[in-house]
Amino acid sequence: MNDILRGRLKSSMNKDMARFVSSMNIDGWIFTPDILVNKAHVMMLCEQNIIVKEDCLSILKALDSIKKGGFSSLDTTHEDVHVAIESKVIELAGEVGSRMHTAKSRNDEVATCIRIALRGELLEIMRELIALRNSLLNLADKHINTIMPGFTHLQHAQPTTLAHHLIAHADALKRDFDRIVDAYTRVNLCPLGAGAFASTGFPINRERTAQLLGFDGLIENSMDAVSTRDFAIECISAFANTMVDLSRMAEEFILWNTPEFDFIELDDRYSSVSSIMPQKKNPDALELIRARTGSVYGALQSVLSICKALPYSYNRDLQEATPHLIRATSTLHSSLRVMSGIVDTMQVKSDRMAAAAHVGFITATELADTIVRDAGISFRTAHQIVGTLARNGQKPTLDQIDSIANRIIGKKLSELGLTQASLDKALDPEQNIQIRCIRGGPAPKETLRMAKDRMKQVDSDTKFLDQKVNQIKAALKQMDAPVRER
Ligand code: ARG
Repeated sequence: MNDILRGRLKSSMNKDMARFVSSMNIDGWIFTPDILVNKAHVMMLCEQNIIVKEDCLSILKALDSIKKGGFSSLDTTHEDVHVAIESKVIELAGEVGSRMHTAKSRNDEVATCIRIALRGELLEIMRELIALRNSLLNLADKHINTIMPGFTHLQHAQPTTLAHHLIAHADALKRDFDRIVDAYTRVNLCPLGAGAFASTGFPINRERTAQLLGFDGLIENSMDAVSTRDFAIECISAFANTMVDLSRMAEEFILWNTPEFDFIELDDRYSSVSSIMPQKKNPDALELIRARTGSVYGALQSVLSICKALPYSYNRDLQEATPHLIRATSTLHSSLRVMSGIVDTMQVKSDRMAAAAHVGFITATELADTIVRDAGISFRTAHQIVGTLARNGQKPTLDQIDSIANRIIGKKLSELGLTQASLDKALDPEQNIQIRCIRGGPAPKETLRMAKDRMKQVDSDTKFLDQKVNQIKAALKQMDAPVRER
């Protein structure tokens, strides 16, 4: 390796030191962005008459050929992808290649590359989130009338429907989507031109490189531009929040897939086996989503800790943040994709869910409400009467209600207006759901309205995403023309 940077130093690094400081093991992530950044930069240098057209064309030609060769064609003994690419440009274009780094530092270069790579990941994550929301809503649409127990403290609480439950998860993912869209607005800003931190005395045009690279604006202050990784922290934080939601869904599906619940059966494609117990069909993918949520928190904690108390501007510590960002990003991608597949293929056992909604005294809340309405007593007193009745865990008869009420308030509720007909209605899980028809409730009419409304959101989010993707494609296309036509 011919080191182009070490003029200041008399000796070269030994192998241990070189490996210790290198970021080449993860720089494949920013290989394409670095080619783009270099192309935009030299095109701008040429437009600003900082380098001559002929040199610009030679450098662009070299960059195009390096792009074709791919990251694997680079000499990995270099300190990072920026040096590896610049060295190769000099090798291919000769001395004129040395002009590429005019008015640029690796500090603004790497910050720009990370933002380009990350915005692409964010757009993909948005797409994956839309797909998962779509999967949940499609399943919800089929199960508007599928009754199941709803839980608090993992105890049977009140009847609900599978649609109501699934839309709740889809709504959480919509908020995750919105958080990522919001983070995107702060990621897609261009630090290029900040130089090492003090910008440059060359008359560069920062708006032009930002525009060529498809950014929506600049990180203006050149010291801020190279110093910050707050955008990475913000993204990993949004990823961690999304993983919380995925892990909660994963945990429920793991429980529902047990013989004890028996609410769903995972498809074989998303199941694993045991090496010793031939009968086993295990939900390993869901367990890994649950576990990797912890790894994403770890990435967030790592980047927060790495960035804490760093004096402005650039420090090499910042290099150490990037692998955590990459790991968190790729974990979220794979978790979202696998979760969509699981939802799309799992078998729902509607009968088992409905049967479970009849177990125990899950309609107790509605009975208390009915007593309030029919017998005119306060909710707290009704709660006490029904709570006492619930001690044996079974649905009560009108006689049992009367005898307990007599003990507690000295009156029979049947004498105050509670009838067998309204008792039967109160104790029927289906009726419980039907009357919870206010906004956001589990009544079929309302969940159907919510499902349709969410599907419309999915459509408009897809349009928004397509527009962002096309905007970037169109910007980058400006740099696509073959060198001879430029
Ligand atoms: N590989 C480095 C990083 O990821 C690039 C910037 C190096 N800059 C420097 N001044 N040493 O941060």
